[in-house]
Amino acid sequence: MDINCPLDKKTLRILNDARIRSIVPTVRELIGKRAKVVILAHQSRKGAWDFTDLEQHASRLSKNLNAPVRYVNDIIGSEAKEAIAGMRSGEVILLGNVREMDCESVTAEMSQHAEAELVAELSPLLDYYVCDAFGASHRSQCSLVGFPMKLPSASGRLMAREIYALKTILEKPRQPSVFILGGAKFADIPFMIDRVLGSGIADTVIVVGLAGNAFLLARGVDIGEASSKVLASELTEKNFQAARDVLAKYGQKVLLPVDVAVERNGGRVCVNIGDMPTAEPALDIGDQTIDKFRKVILSSKTSFMSGPAGMFEKPGFESGTKQLIMAMVESKGLSVLGGGHTAGAAEGFDLADRISYVSTGGGALETFLLQEPLPVIEALKYSRKKFGTK
Ligand code: 3PG
Repeated sequence: MDINCPLDKKTLRILNDARIRSIVPTVRELIGKRAKVVILAHQSRKGAWDFTDLEQHASRLSKNLNAPVRYVNDIIGSEAKEAIAGMRSGEVILLGNVREMDCESVTAEMSQHAEAELVAELSPLLDYYVCDAFGASHRSQCSLVGFPMKLPSASGRLMAREIYALKTILEKPRQPSVFILGGAKFADIPFMIDRVLGSGIADTVIVVGLAGNAFLLARGVDIGEASSKVLASELTEKNFQAARDVLAKYGQKVLLPVDVAVERNGGRVCVNIGDMPTAEPALDIGDQTIDKFRKVILSSKTSFMSGPAGMFEKPGFESGTKQLIMAMVESKGLSVLGGGHTAGAAEGFDLADRISYVSTGGGALETFLLQEPLPVIEALKYSRKKFGTK
């Protein structure tokens, strides 16, 4: 399951549990069939501030499921194995954050993932593998692609629903189309821009959020230490070069902020890019940028957003994200929004119901829309052939 949730930076509590709610139908159906359900999932990545255990995820799942979910803070050790062995039909266990395990971050072929420690230790205890982690289906990791090689497997209900809905969208693209890419995963974005603009899927790409700040830096804007510090490990020369390359290749088709919003004397203050660096970190796109980007979105027939435009959880700094989502709604075109944070933000603004399709996937959704193979789907197809499951 992909129950990777946005967390509050201070309290580390879950801010939005949409991804947890989205897997309830699959778990409920499995319980209904009297299965013993062992859930593997992750939260963030090792080294990141929001890398935590999954205890609160288990309580949220239990609340939404209206059935007990036992959290076992272990993955392949004796505690996990004994808990699995002692399960009764219809019980649910959530194991610890799989990204605690080193094998989960190894880059390898699917066949090698099948031999990873996690798969080797757990698959003898399991009969079937059901994957409902659409949000992580673009990642080739042993918890996702290793098990289908060893066990008869199936996709869960969420996975099936997402694929069905997104296929329909792909079959009916309408131009002009704008992609709004934000959030913190700067490394993924140059590649995405090249694919969507190069293939003509998008006519314009708007880059916002922390990624927008990183792109400004790549364009030669001195954004200041406070803004660059937060980007930390993403600021590699390789990522910068990739950003510079797409900026040079696509020119005005890639739109960057013209001003940013910082917190000064307890309030929101907009600063033109020409007046940077600022002592304070840029927490949102500025008001001129919002106006400019809204116009582009309003004149589009397809809009896609993945990743927020700023720190929308902080009062006063939600404007960028909120106004861009609002423009997607007002454009009356086809609007698609994805990613845990962005979907959570849309829900918080009460706008999610007015978007054509809200996906639980961020990177997975992008990969799907680019019509690139998703490793998890490939692994499930392999499993079906190998085990003859339907
Ligand atoms: C996501 O939020 O996109 C998925 O949970 C995958 O997370 P990742 O980008 O850390 O692999």
